[in-house]
Amino acid sequence: MGELSKLLIPGPVPIDPQVMEELVKPAAPHYGEEWVRRYRETLDMLRRLFQMKASDVYPLAGPGHAGMDAIAFTLLRRGDRVVTIDNGFFGARISEVMRAHHLKVDAVSSNWGEPPDVEDVERAMRRGARCLVVVHNETSTGMKNPVRELAKVAWDHGAWTFVDAVSSLGGLPLPCDAWGIEACFAASQKCIAAPPGIAPIAISKRLMDEADPKTAQGWYLNLFTWNRLREEWAEWHPQPTTISTNVFYAFHRALQVLHEEGLEARIRRHEIIGRAYREGLRGLGFTMFSKEEYSSNTVSSARPPKGLDAKELIARLNGDHGIVIAGTLGPMRGQGIRIGHLGTQATPEYVELMLTALAGYARSVGVMGTQDAIDRAMQIAAKAR
Ligand SMILES: Cc1ncc(COP(=O)(O)O)c(C=O)c1O
Repeated sequence: MGELSKLLIPGPVPIDPQVMEELVKPAAPHYGEEWVRRYRETLDMLRRLFQMKASDVYPLAGPGHAGMDAIAFTLLRRGDRVVTIDNGFFGARISEVMRAHHLKVDAVSSNWGEPPDVEDVERAMRRGARCLVVVHNETSTGMKNPVRELAKVAWDHGAWTFVDAVSSLGGLPLPCDAWGIEACFAASQKCIAAPPGIAPIAISKRLMDEADPKTAQGWYLNLFTWNRLREEWAEWHPQPTTISTNVFYAFHRALQVLHEEGLEARIRRHEIIGRAYREGLRGLGFTMFSKEEYSSNTVSSARPPKGLDAKELIARLNGDHGIVIAGTLGPMRGQGIRIGHLGTQATPEYVELMLTALAGYARSVGVMGTQDAIDRAMQIAAKAR
C-alpha cells in the first residue's frame, strides 16, 4: 500500500493508488464510446454488488443522501405512510428526510446501539405503511440493524423495504434478493473505497414497474428520467447529466478492485478486522457502544477507559501520530471515539497502527496488559492477510 494514509474516520477512506490514478488523468468526455463501455460495466458491477438480479441500478452523481432522496422522489408519494427505525444518528436522519418528502412517518425508536423491538415494528407496520426504511449499518454507533428480519416483517405486512447501505455495501453481507430488499442506496466513499461523489442505487424491477412515472417528483432525482434517457441516449450518453469523468472512472476502478478481490473475500476481511478491533479495544479498557451480537464490522465505536477524555484522545492521536479518527454523534457527542475499518481501512496494518497508538494512552491511565491485548487482536487480524 506504500506510504499509509492515516485517515481512519468512518469514510471517506484512503484511496488505493490504482483508483487514485483515475482521479489525476486528464479530463475526458462524459459521453461517447469509451464512456458508454465503462458506464455499462459499472452498472453490471453494481448489480452484482447489490445482489439484486432483476433491478434497475443507477450510479447517481451526488452524496449518499442524493440516493435516499432519489428513491423517495421516484417511489413514494406525498401522504404515504412509512415506518422508520430510529436508533442512531442516521436512523434519525432518515425520519427527517422522509418528513421533508411530506410522508407520514411512524418512527420506531430504540436505545442507540440496540436493534428495534420487532413487536414495535409490527405494530407500526399495521397502520398501513407502504414501506419500511432502515439503516443497515448505523455508522454513528457501530451497530448493524437486523435488516433481513425487518424486511420479512415489512413483506408480511404487504410493504417493501428501503435500505440505507451507505456504510455496509461491499463490507457486510447484504444479498438484496435473498433478503427481500427492493430499494437500496449507498455511497462511493465507504466500503467501495472510491472518492466521494457517487451514490449507487438499486431498485427491483417489480417496484419500478408498479410505480407511476407520471406522479414521480422532480427531474434529476426522479429515476424515471434516468430510465427514459438510458433508452433514448443509450449509445452515446446513457445518463441524464454531466458526471465528473474522473470521479466516475475512479468509482469504476474501485468496483473492479472490489470484484477482483471477490465480494465474499472482502466481506470476510471486514469480519476479521472488525473482530480484531473489538478484541483489541476491549483489551485496552474501552467499552464498545453496541453489544457483540449487533456489532458492525465496518465501524467501531467505543468509550475510552476511565481517565481518558474522548475529545482529547482524538486530538492527541492526530497531534502525536497523524491518525485521524472521529468522535461520537448526537446524544453521545464527546463520549466516545469512532474508528473506520471500511474498504482500504480494513487491514491488519491499520489495526496494529491504531491499537499501538491507543495502547500508549491506555497505559498512561493505568490499563494493564496492553501488549497482550494487541497480540490477541493481531492474531485475529493476521487471518485477513
Ligand atoms: C449510514 C449513513 N447514511 C447516510 C450517510 C450520508 O452520506 P453522505 O454524506 O454521502 O450523504 C452516512 C454518512 O456517513 C452514513 O454513514
